[in-house]
Amino acid sequence: LFLLCGGGSAAAVWTWQGLEHNTAGKVDFVRPLAVPALAPSRLDERGRRVFELTARRGRHDFGNGPVATWGFNGDYLGPTLRAKRGEEVVVNVHNRLTEATTVHWHGMHLPAEADGGPLRMVDAPGTWSPTWRINQPAATLWYHPHPHGSTANQTYQGLAGMFILDDPATDVAALPHEYGVDDVPVIVQDKNFDGDHLKGRGGVFGAIGILGDTVVVNGTAAAFLDVTTDRVRLRLLNASNARVYDFGFADNREYDLVGTDGGLLAAPVTTRRVMLSPGERAEIVVAVRPGERVVLRSTPPTLGAGALSDRISGGHDTLDILQLRAAATLRATKPVPARLVDVPRFDRAAATRTRDFSLADTKINGQSMSMSRVDARVVKDTVEVWRVRNADGQPHTFHVHDVQFQVLSVGGKEPPAELRGWKDTIYLRGDVTYEIIMAFRDYADPNRAYMFHCHVLKHEDQGMMGQFVVVDQ
Ligand code: C2O
Ligand code: CU
Repeated sequence: LFLLCGGGSAAAVWTWQGLEHNTAGKVDFVRPLAVPALAPSRLDERGRRVFELTARRGRHDFGNGPVATWGFNGDYLGPTLRAKRGEEVVVNVHNRLTEATTVHWHGMHLPAEADGGPLRMVDAPGTWSPTWRINQPAATLWYHPHPHGSTANQTYQGLAGMFILDDPATDVAALPHEYGVDDVPVIVQDKNFDGDHLKGRGGVFGAIGILGDTVVVNGTAAAFLDVTTDRVRLRLLNASNARVYDFGFADNREYDLVGTDGGLLAAPVTTRRVMLSPGERAEIVVAVRPGERVVLRSTPPTLGAGALSDRISGGHDTLDILQLRAAATLRATKPVPARLVDVPRFDRAAATRTRDFSLADTKINGQSMSMSRVDARVVKDTVEVWRVRNADGQPHTFHVHDVQFQVLSVGGKEPPAELRGWKDTIYLRGDVTYEIIMAFRDYADPNRAYMFHCHVLKHEDQGMMGQFVVVDQ
């Protein structure tokens, strides 16, 4: 470990690679937050919105000089894709890496052909052009690679980005919505550095994968955001390989949780903490006062049973993530409305089938991912309940492709407020059964599979993943 950098003033306790770097209260926020550009798009002759994404190698400066990274259309991460409900989109994915990749649209409802799972590889060099029509509520989704066995490394190197969906029919005008001004992507990742490259602690292929000691937001370490409005909406995305964050503010102020993985909540939930495991998103609206500085901080999450659970939170780590710097005068925004959108609740009685999934020992139901095995055949336009359980107490999450689900129960009880909206990924506390309910609609294709898996990327790569297909009957 490096300790303090020499030459700084006593107040400038800025260390680059020490754990001290992001330990609460010791970060000097010295860099303006980089906000990913909105991806340009064009309409083709069929009226489809066309994006270009090129995966390539680069060099990116997180704050202490350039290191080797990968990115889409740039050196690190990718642009924010944005499309409206009802639009048809095409994404031309170009691979200029030196290995095969694929891009998965996490949270997106779309045909399996376009889903970008491990079955749909894009060679290097090569181009893949998935197309689909957006048909789901406004939401904060994201995209990342999904080649089986290499997802952890490719994502860690920097291949990830946000995909924002708008829904003109339900847009809540009262929520801050000026991109990069009062509506800001906050892509949170943890990194380790070794000279001029990224390094996983214990290697990318260590026990649970990477736990970095430096937290970066949108690829910036120790970042601040200049806030010019009296409320700001943060679209939090945990794009880390393994770390779980419990997000709040250093002064423990309240804020409004307005959206979860798959869309806005029916009503805002006023809270002080939101826990996000890898892959999960939350939209929050926080109020600030003129001139103040407030720090978005992660405190160690309570992960429940399991001797190893501490390891995924970094144990003792309280991490300062991002500083909000409010201007001396702030433009007034509207208060968060008491009701946001309709979120129709699934009725348990509508389910025609229940399945059980037990996650343990890098397997699901005792089986490792096999490209040639279909684990579940679900019938189109039916509703199912899946009972999911973390059976070995290691840190696991559960993510289902294509659908947004609702959490029916957690350990037999009503889910907490932050699990009552649309979800596609949940954290699984050890030895607790989570019942989730979802509808499989629109697309049947018995020949192309969707995935479900643990989103701790190391576990996913190790085979804690299965496949389902949607069939006509
Ligand atoms: Cu974000 Cu199959 O995952
Ligand atoms: Cu796992």
